[in-house]
Amino acid sequence: MADPSNEKLDTVTGFKTTGHEWDGIAELNQPLPRWWLWIFYACILFSVGYWIVYPAWPLVFSATNGVIGWNSRTAVDEAIAQLQADRGPMVDKLSKTEIAAIKDDPELLDFTRAYGSIAFKENCAPCHGAGGGGAKGYPNLIDDDWLWGGSIDNIAHTIAYGVRNANSDSRYSEMPAFGRDGILTGAQIRDVTQYVRSLSGLPVPHGSDLEAGAKIFADNCASCHGDDARGDQEIGAPNLTDAIWLYGSATPDVVATITNARNSSMPAWSERLDPTTLKALTFYVHNLGGGE
Ligand code: HEC
Ligand code: HEC
Repeated sequence: MADPSNEKLDTVTGFKTTGHEWDGIAELNQPLPRWWLWIFYACILFSVGYWIVYPAWPLVFSATNGVIGWNSRTAVDEAIAQLQADRGPMVDKLSKTEIAAIKDDPELLDFTRAYGSIAFKENCAPCHGAGGGGAKGYPNLIDDDWLWGGSIDNIAHTIAYGVRNANSDSRYSEMPAFGRDGILTGAQIRDVTQYVRSLSGLPVPHGSDLEAGAKIFADNCASCHGDDARGDQEIGAPNLTDAIWLYGSATPDVVATITNARNSSMPAWSERLDPTTLKALTFYVHNLGGGE
């Protein structure tokens, strides 16, 4: 507690002390600057005005509405309605134009690029990367290596119905889990792993039996990946002779792929996005660089 009898004049600053004192340390009684006080009072006045004009005080089920009736939720609704009205004619045009004909209309081309790019960032980037470059387990969409085909029709189908999901039109295939299901022994998996790695020119450990690996491949893998191991887009079986690896090319990665199989899946986007957005996405992905 302040004790008025303790107030003293501080000779260094010329101010009185408040009377508080701790172990000989006293507190100066320095009034707040005028300008500060006026701004403070002005803020209080402003806030009273704000309560009256804008929605402010929470009530039990809603809030005070404010006399001008403005509300951030209706403001967003209006902005969205305005945006849709502005975009309407272009969206309409896009919905009626064949994908192959989009490039003939420069204005529509710009619009579709922007629309596809935004839809891609919102829906696809978490898995395929912001620029479509992919990640381990999520295919790169920029290169010309396609699991399920890179034509407009193939890409449109993959996006609309996805891969290995519950949609009846989903792309589907299943690589067996050769190790987990006991189809191949550990030694056989090691041999076929090094054989497969050798196909894309990777160095294999000394003493690997590539001949045995080739035989295992012909008997167990060629039916899907092809006799030449170049893959099969009908069933999404990757080309194993190129330098592009979805699940990694290091020996432990390939052993894990063959032992447990990966069989990753992608949602059917037609269940979530409208046909025009799907069209813009197909156009966008096809134009990322690897479209056929
Ligand atoms: C949850 C993760 C995920 C999201 C989100 C996702 N994808 Fe995929 N996508 C995958 C996976 C995994 C595959 C590979 C499936 C396989 O093994 O065949 C794939 C495959 C593809 C393919 C086939 C690539 C090829 O080589 O044939 C295309 C095209 C594609 N995605 C486009 C899209 C688009 C467009 C979107 C956004 C609308 C999207 N993806 C969103 C996971 C995803
Ligand atoms: C029934 C068809 C089928 C058979 C049989 C099959 N595969 Fe596959 N394989 C696939 C499919 C489909 C994928 C892609 C799976 C995915 O994306 O999840 C794949 C992926 C792979 C990959 C991953 C490639 C990468 O880019 O990371 C390797 C390696 C592989 N298979 C090796 C083999 C070997 C070795 C055998 C034989 C022992 C074999 N596969 C048998 C269908 C098959």
